[in-house]
Formats: sequence, C-alpha cells, structure tokens
Amino acid sequence: MSILVTGGAGFIGSHTCVELLNAGYDIIILDNFANSKPESLKRIKELTGKDFKFYEADIRDAEALQKIFSENKIEAVIHFAGLKSVPQSISQPLEYYDNNIAGTVCLCDVMSKNGCKKMVFSSSATVYGSKNPSPLKEDMPTGGTTNPYGTTKYFIENILKDLCVPDKDWGVTILRYFNPIGAHKSGRIGEDPNGIPGNLMPYITQVAIGKLPHLNVCGNDYPTPDGTGVRDYIHVVDLALGHVKALERLLRTNGCEVYNLGTGKGYSVLDVVHAFEKAAGMKVNYKIAPRREGDIACCYSDPSKAKEILGWEAKYGIEEMCEDSWRWQSQNPNGLN
Ligand code: NAD
Ligand code: UD1
Repeated sequence: MSILVTGGAGFIGSHTCVELLNAGYDIIILDNFANSKPESLKRIKELTGKDFKFYEADIRDAEALQKIFSENKIEAVIHFAGLKSVPQSISQPLEYYDNNIAGTVCLCDVMSKNGCKKMVFSSSATVYGSKNPSPLKEDMPTGGTTNPYGTTKYFIENILKDLCVPDKDWGVTILRYFNPIGAHKSGRIGEDPNGIPGNLMPYITQVAIGKLPHLNVCGNDYPTPDGTGVRDYIHVVDLALGHVKALERLLRTNGCEVYNLGTGKGYSVLDVVHAFEKAAGMKVNYKIAPRREGDIACCYSDPSKAKEILGWEAKYGIEEMCEDSWRWQSQNPNGLN
C-alpha cells in the first residue's frame, strides 16, 4: 500500500516526502510542476537513498488520477497541491478557485470511487481571519478571509468536513500551518519561489545573497512590542514530521479532525531579521515601509491539541530556522536549477 502525495515536488511536500520515506512509507508523487521543478524529485531520492513512482499530472484531470489509482494500491493521500500566492489569487481569482477548489473536489471524487477515503489536507492559519485573538485554537470560528487564496482554504476545509458527514468511511485531517520557513539540514531542498518573493524569509535570504537591495519591513506601527507584525514561524522539517504523525493517526481513525501546526511562539519581523543576522553573520539592509494591505498585527498558534493527540510538537527554534534557510539559499543561489 502506498501514500499518494499531491504537490510532493513543492516546498513542504518535498520535505514531507523525505520524512515519509525515512519513516518507511512507500510513496507516489503527483505534481504538475506549476510551482516546482523535477530537480526536487532527484534530491528527495538523493537524501533518502529511496526510489518512488512519479506522475506528472494535474489534480483537475480525473482521467489521469484514475490511471494512478488503477495502477497502484493507495491507502491515503497527503494533499499539498495548490496555488499559494496571495497577490496572484487577487489578480487571478478564477484560476485559484479552479485549481484549489475544483482540483480538490476532483481528487476526492476519484479517491471515493476507488475506495480510498483518507486525506491529510494542507490548510493555513489564514482561515482564522482577522477577528480571533492569538493564541489561535482549532475550535475558534473560521472565515472572514481577505483574499481568494485564503477563501479557497476556508471553502476546502468545509467541503472536506461535509464529505465526512454522510460517509463514515471517510477520514480527513486538516492541518493548519502557521508560517513555514527553514530548509532540510543538508541544504539540498528548500523553498524556491518564482520571481520576487512575497514572504518574509525568502525575501531576507535574497537580500542577504545580494539579489535584492533591501527588505521592506511592512509597518512598524502595529500594537506589538516593537511595532512590526508578529507571526508563528515553524521549521519546515518540524512541519513535515507533523504530517507523518497525522498520517499515523489517520490510518486508524475516521471522521474529520483539525490541528494547528505551529510552535506557539510569536516573533516580530525585526526579531526574525536579527535572528537571521546572527545566524548568517551579516547585516541585512532594511527600510521601514507602509503596512501591507490585508496584514494583521499578530498571529500565533496554540499548538497543544497536536501535542496531546498526535504526540507532535515543534523542536526547532528560530535560530535553526534562520541557519537552515541561509544554508539552503547560499548553497543554491538560483534555487533548484
Ligand atoms: P509549493 O507551491 O511549493 O507546492 C505546491 C505544489 O503543488 C507545487 O509543486 C505545484 O507544482 C503543485 N501543484 C499546484 N497545483 C497543482 C495541480 N493543479 N496539480 C498538480 N500539482 C499542482 O507550496 P508549499 O509551500 O509547499 O505549500 C504546500 C501546500 O501548503 C499548499 O496547498 C499551500 O497552499 C499550503 N500552505 C502553505 C503555506 C506556506 O507558507 N508555504 C502556508 C499554509 C498553507
Ligand atoms: C502570508 C499570507 C498567508 C499565507 C502565508 C504563506 C498574506 C496576508 N498572508 O502570511 O495567507 O498562508 O503567507 O504563504 O499575504 N513582511 C515584511 N516584508 C516583506 C514580507 C513580509 O515586513 O517583504 C512581514 C509581513 O508584514 C508579516 C510577516 O513579515 O508581518 C510575515 O509575512 P509573510 O511571510 O508574507 O507571511 P504572512 O503574511 O503571515
């Protein structure tokens, strides 16, 4: 029996595939390389010394999915495939609703027809919207998302919850990620954004390597200790290990469960800049800029449910997140080419 990993060539998917292979699972990766490169598959093999099947396919292509299910015995799906840029989702909403929502519906339908009814889904802290106070807990109300990307996560969560109501064989684990950064310790896989990064850590590493002149710190007048936005950064390897724990439980349970994957600690933009400067041994140029539209002051998790039920908690601190992000960027200045 195998685990199908959609979007397994991407940032979080590739790290999770390494941990799944290390834990002894047989995996099959499906990806259409919309935001990743075949090189990441080679590196997963290099890091683990293990082989796996790969299908270049789109989750919206029911025939291609059926072929994968016909050719393999698939026990569960870990579903990372999706588009994730907030600004792009605002300019191309239909592409996001089609890729993320229609793609997930298509995947669930083919899974159901083939009697495979276990899914781990990549959701985001963005579903908590802007009204809930941190620390954010799984039972707080969701919705009030401020962009189509966030809305796709909110809608998909609800679709997956509904799926588990009439059919008790279905089991879905929704994982709400906080802010994944860092990279595998080897420096061989990591985040490889297209164009100018939208997220903080890849922006910092590209300033550090000289590709970008300075970081814009987006707002220093938030009601936070130093005025800059506070987030719950989590090492991508911790996140990957969270998927292995979630899968272990999902294989023996049914119904829909939701878990935060975060550290429970909040760091400001300037905290991250200073931690990075220490880890990389260099100064990072930055300028204070206006707030970014749609940003909230503070967002961090209460991670106690995942600890209690999945037996998982984040191990790496901000120092290692910065060291590993920097190792990845400095060893791969042009990403996975
Ligand atoms: P990523 O872009 O690196 O990985 C996503 C992968 O899915 C890519 O390899 C892409 O080529 C593939 N893909 C996209 N659409 C596809 C389709 N229609 N068919 C097949 N493959 C497709 O992103 P990531 O950071 O690894 O994120 C993985 C998942 O986690 C996404 O669903 C994302 O929305 C979610 N998430 C990410 C973050 C984050 O900060 N990185 C935070 C919260 C949630
Ligand atoms: C963003 C998305 C979120 C998505 C997540 C992962 C928004 C509003 N939210 O989260 O939906 O799940 O990425 O892809 O876009 N910052 C700067 N300068 C920069 C970039 C960021 O100061 O150049 C600040 C931001 O204002 C924020 C913090 O750094 O306070 C983290 O930003 P980012 O990495 O983009 O993540 P989020 O905004 O938390």
